[in-house]
Amino acid sequence: MTSKTPLRIRVRRMDYDMSGLRRYWYKDNAWITHFLNALSTTFPDGERFFIHSVRHFESQIQDPLLREQIRAFIGQEANHGKEHEAFNQALIDQHGLPLENKLKFMKGALAWAKKKWSPREQLAMTAGFEHFTAILANLLLEREEVIADIAGVYSDMFLWHAVEETEHKAVAFDVYQAVDGDYWLRVRSMALATFFFLLVTLRMQHSLLKHDGKLGDWRAALGFAKFMLVKPGFLTRIIPQYLDYYRPDFHPWQHDNRHLIAGHVRTLASHELRPAEAAAATAAGAAAAA
Ligand SMILES: [Fe+2]
Ligand SMILES: [Fe+2]
Repeated sequence: MTSKTPLRIRVRRMDYDMSGLRRYWYKDNAWITHFLNALSTTFPDGERFFIHSVRHFESQIQDPLLREQIRAFIGQEANHGKEHEAFNQALIDQHGLPLENKLKFMKGALAWAKKKWSPREQLAMTAGFEHFTAILANLLLEREEVIADIAGVYSDMFLWHAVEETEHKAVAFDVYQAVDGDYWLRVRSMALATFFFLLVTLRMQHSLLKHDGKLGDWRAALGFAKFMLVKPGFLTRIIPQYLDYYRPDFHPWQHDNRHLIAGHVRTLASHELRPAEAAAATAAGAAAAA
């Protein structure tokens, strides 16, 4: 089987300055900010789980292009984990957000998943989660107001993550198709991934809002409902692409959105580390994920 990813995946080692983080960094809205903080809390260990599940099958892949893409996927995800780790730490240090127990929960839950699920089940879950991140990334790139509404340098960080999630969106899927390809396991895993994704992020958001005494902030709650359902429609707009995953002949690049990332690559360059620093940092990140 040959890889169907139509572009070269580039590993960029970034270094974002996490100082001066606004408490409600998305439009001063506590509900939306804490929803996105909850997402960020799931990223470092989630992305290490993705690396682990893809790396397990690397030696079974014959296609040289897909092997190259697996290395790039691992490099990109390791770097995402590192930057989101720094971002999560900034939320703890600068705003005293109680993220430690949530990060510990993620570590425990994924350690449990590694023991409980077979490698093929873990890979199928990863392919599902990767489609999820890809369609959210597509929304961020398509609706430019989402990135524009993020305060400070964090808009660049989320843009970088969205570009790279797009670049490598088919890697886990292609590995799954090459080593297994069972349709029912793929769609069952996606349904399960959706359930976990909603349960964990909404529970974390609720807990953070409770901590800040913002559960009763109805103006922010209405803003969140608008954000999810209407503009940009963080939930509603992704539904058609989400459902496409359940088609037997689905492939992530049937949603060809290369044009959305081409223009952003130059913006990313200003935060990139020099090649020698990047190589050292990437190797350290990938080793930590092993
Ligand atoms: Fe990522
Ligand atoms: Fe990813």
